[in-house]
Amino acid sequence: MKNILITGGAGFIGSHLVRLMVNKYPTYRIVNVDKLTYAGNLANLKDVEKMSNYVFEKADICDFSLMQAIFDRYKIEGVIHLAAESHVDRSIQDPFAFAQTNVMGTLSLLQAAKQAWNGQWEDRLFYHVSTDEVYGALKPGKELFTETTKYDPHSPYSASKASSDHFVRAYHDTYGLPIKVSNCSNNYGSYQFPEKLIPLFINNIRHNKPLPVYGKGDNVRDWLFVEDHVRAIDLIFHRGKIGDTYNIGGFNEWRNIDLIKVLVKITDRLLGRPEGSSDHLITFVADRAGHDLRYAIDSNKLKQELGWEPSLSFEEGIEKTVKWYLEHQEWLDNVTSGDYQKYYEQMYNKK
Ligand code: NAD
Ligand code: DAU
Repeated sequence: MKNILITGGAGFIGSHLVRLMVNKYPTYRIVNVDKLTYAGNLANLKDVEKMSNYVFEKADICDFSLMQAIFDRYKIEGVIHLAAESHVDRSIQDPFAFAQTNVMGTLSLLQAAKQAWNGQWEDRLFYHVSTDEVYGALKPGKELFTETTKYDPHSPYSASKASSDHFVRAYHDTYGLPIKVSNCSNNYGSYQFPEKLIPLFINNIRHNKPLPVYGKGDNVRDWLFVEDHVRAIDLIFHRGKIGDTYNIGGFNEWRNIDLIKVLVKITDRLLGRPEGSSDHLITFVADRAGHDLRYAIDSNKLKQELGWEPSLSFEEGIEKTVKWYLEHQEWLDNVTSGDYQKYYEQMYNKK
């Protein structure tokens, strides 16, 4: 495969994936399709935007005829689909937007791929990037989500992602479309939109603003460094089995409140403050509706079949991440002020 469509490539994980693919595979043409919602930021891709094997198309994946045209224009042979509405709190406020992009957008891409490839499946692949949230919530303890755990989504976000996963598998079972799916745990790292826990809290600690902890801070998440996630996607895309699902996670569970205390310590130290002096910013607030208690991924299949393992310890990854946000205050300021949305107009001379 040479012509690869990556959707959502201007977002957090997508921008890391585009960077990896454009640099690692100079003979591929990477076509990044992104609508540039509030979460899409072309400044995340400054270092690759002029590379000859990279193309950007501002487009909504829900626009079926536009997707057909893009498949046709670029002779798309493989898809790595990340475009989505991704924030749980927003899904509680506006579930329709999540059904639209995550379900209808995925369907539009599946249908465009099916029509373009028209039964010639060899060397064709539709890879769908999904989340561990589709499995629901675990009780405290040792149980982990495996690839065969029953789907049990609770938020409008996870319900929409679960639905998209089902559509992807239905296209495989019904029409024979070659597909792969991966379900990953919480990612952290550079270029994450500062509405998500880690970048939001680092920015707030820096500016002495309250750190709003939902409920008692007892919820558990399994954190993975984003560059390890995109390495896993690359491996699964090239070497995973057609029709299969792979869980991706770092065996790295943290109670929110414990993680937040670590974040406070590291951020304080890097800012030259006494470690823990920002603890007073921790503010317990009303819980998120339907807040899943615990996520934890069993990624043994990926390790055993494809030899993938996280490259960094959590201590290394989180230190690197805090440093990155503290050294990229301009990026954060552009995002929080909304200025980043002008980047497309400047770069491409378009509105
Ligand atoms: P993100 O919100 O940072 O980025 C999403 C990107 O999709 C943005 O660039 C946005 O502009 C684009 N987009 C949204 N709607 C679109 C549409 N209709 N058409 C075209 N582009 C559109 O998300 P992220 O955190 O990078 O997540 C990427 C994918 O990975 C999502 O599918 C998400 O469900 C999945 N995932 C995320 C995590 C995580 O921890 N962030 C973990 C597991 C899986
Ligand atoms: O598990 C994978 C999922 O991880 C992805 O599919 C989602 O796209 C991604 O957003 C993330 O979902 P979470 O809801 O787990 O991430 P978030 O950063 O929003 O929250 C992490 C935990 O911190 C969660 O238990 C809620 C809590 N939280 C979050 C925020 C933003 C707070 O206590 N306070 C906050 O202000």
